[in-house]
Amino acid sequence: INYNLVKFTMSAGTAEQLPNNDRPEIAFVGRSNVGKSSLMNKLFGRKDLVKVSSKPGKTTTINFFAIGGMDFVDLPGYGYARVNATEKQRWDNLMDGYFEGERNIKLVVALVDIRHDASPLDAQMIGYLESLGHPYAIAFTKADKLSHSRGVAQARLLREQLCVDESVRSVLVSSLKGTGIDDLKKVIEERLNF
Ligand code: GTP
Ligand code: MG
Repeated sequence: INYNLVKFTMSAGTAEQLPNNDRPEIAFVGRSNVGKSSLMNKLFGRKDLVKVSSKPGKTTTINFFAIGGMDFVDLPGYGYARVNATEKQRWDNLMDGYFEGERNIKLVVALVDIRHDASPLDAQMIGYLESLGHPYAIAFTKADKLSHSRGVAQARLLREQLCVDESVRSVLVSSLKGTGIDDLKKVIEERLNF
């Protein structure tokens, strides 16, 4: 995958705005502020193609980035407490529209913060992906916040807490330091059969 060729293509704020897509897609999901947009920038080798913020709830639309014949998809984060019921409903419809639509989702990268215990929302998201049969991998983010050995131990614990099947790949990543980015690229490319 030539990540240098990445181009922003479009944003969808409602399920109706989602493009019909039979191109292979790699999607990024996780709690607000877990580091989805930062990780995509790091993969693309770009500083700010994907908008990042220290405030949770930055990404509120589904954003598509094309690389060659495939798309990388940044999804709005879940679990941000300060959104009202209308906004929460929009989010639910948008996410369901995405994951339950007719698409060619090759891999969902589910991001989980390495520093915290698994949240019920993370467990729910993974259960949702499993129930829909979407292949997924886990990226444990912000690995720079823990020592390597603590990170590895915490990743093992989180896999247990989230009841992740042994066959599911997981990687420890840091967008800040660049750790694990090549490992994640390998996981993505294996799924795309390169
Ligand atoms: P939403 O769009 O709100 O869902 O958030 P997001 O998951 O896209 O997170 P984003 O990439 O915007 O990053 C959130 C915050 O975490 C920012 O302040 C980033 O600088 C910080 N951050 C992201 N990745 C890392 C990392 O690897 N290490 C550290 N230490 N901080 C990170
Ligand atoms: Mg974001």
